[in-house]
Amino acid sequence: MPSPSVPYQKELKDASPELQIPFHRAVVGEEEAQAVSEVIRSGWLTMGPKTFEFEKEFAKYVGAQDAIAVSTGTAALHLSLEAAGVQAGDEVLLPTTTFTATAEAVTYVGARPVLVDIDPVTMNMDVEDAARRITAKTKAIIPVHLGGQPCHMDEVHALAGAHHLRVIEDAAHALPSEYKGKRVGQISEFTCFSFYATKTLTTGEGGMITTDNLGAADRMRLMRLHGIERDAWKRYRGDGSWFYEVLEAGFKYNLTDFQSAIGLVQLAKCDAMRQARERIAHQYSDAFSSCEELLTPTVLPDRVTSWHLYILRLRLDRLNVDRNGFIEALHRRGVMCSVHFIPLHLQPYYRRAYGYRVGDFENAEKEYHSCLSLPIYPGMTEMEINQVISAVLNTAAESRAVRAVAAHVNPSA
Ligand SMILES: Cc1ncc(COP(=O)(O)O)c(C=O)c1O
Repeated sequence: MPSPSVPYQKELKDASPELQIPFHRAVVGEEEAQAVSEVIRSGWLTMGPKTFEFEKEFAKYVGAQDAIAVSTGTAALHLSLEAAGVQAGDEVLLPTTTFTATAEAVTYVGARPVLVDIDPVTMNMDVEDAARRITAKTKAIIPVHLGGQPCHMDEVHALAGAHHLRVIEDAAHALPSEYKGKRVGQISEFTCFSFYATKTLTTGEGGMITTDNLGAADRMRLMRLHGIERDAWKRYRGDGSWFYEVLEAGFKYNLTDFQSAIGLVQLAKCDAMRQARERIAHQYSDAFSSCEELLTPTVLPDRVTSWHLYILRLRLDRLNVDRNGFIEALHRRGVMCSVHFIPLHLQPYYRRAYGYRVGDFENAEKEYHSCLSLPIYPGMTEMEINQVISAVLNTAAESRAVRAVAAHVNPSA
């Protein structure tokens, strides 16, 4: 990338520094409020007709055979692992750069999360490293589409096919995303979505599993509601019967109708919201790509990302601040950031339980120390976007300028 001096940065004023730009602001409004109040007035609040409609519309939207609504993305992962028959003593491959829920769900079924390094371009699981960690106990692989960019799914499926592994996609960030013209949700046996408050479609809390395995879908429907063969809606409506049978010791993982009503409204806006995030991402990348202290995200040509996250990476060798210092400088300029993610192998629990150590995953650690996530959501105003851009460019310029002065004062530095 050219631009050794980036002179224009010196002229940038910090745009409206009085604005405080949160890392995330949910895009919910009057339509969602209206949908929720209709459910409240209907007299049926928990899982019922709205949830079944949401499942149908969601499956249609991502092109899946079936969709099962659940209370969280974590529950989606748990039910998928259970339906896939993963059990105590098994091993499951997943990237170290993910949220703890991906690995935690593996522990719910008594299996062992086996962490894998990442590919430095996409920051997704390095499939070759995953291959090296396969043992006779490996039963499943969970590719995580970090920030929305799909993993190398052909390679994941080739590896899974060769070793009889079940594929459970963690698509908490990937609605809507595409891999080689296919929407995430129709590519693997199980795909797990999250509708947590910060996600690209939110119901406050919530999740969905899509699957092409209709037997597994039945199992997950059974297990999401106590292992009872007929859900309450069917029992309580006029033509229902009070009788039910408990077939398994299941879980309480159902989604409510008022959450599903929000989900249906959000689903209808999903494409427009992605376009809005993409426009912001392009504005950021256009502004940052000529700044040699920064590395903008690479979206591979055969993929569409949801742009759930805009992960900026710092060329630390060209800056005199570390990532934390850079984030503090952005905070001073009114821009709140986040970091996705602290690799799991650095977390106390995974170190204690599985013996992971600092230095175990070279790429994940390197990217972790240089990455930060900028605000990116449809409700951002032009003023806010411009403030983020000038805050980032000014912070980069300021950090670089100090380095030049230091070199001048001490030529050997
Ligand atoms: C990568 C990833 N997987 C799984 C989850 C879990 O989703 P939920 O919070 O809906 O349980 C999250 C949530 O933040 C996530 O970021």
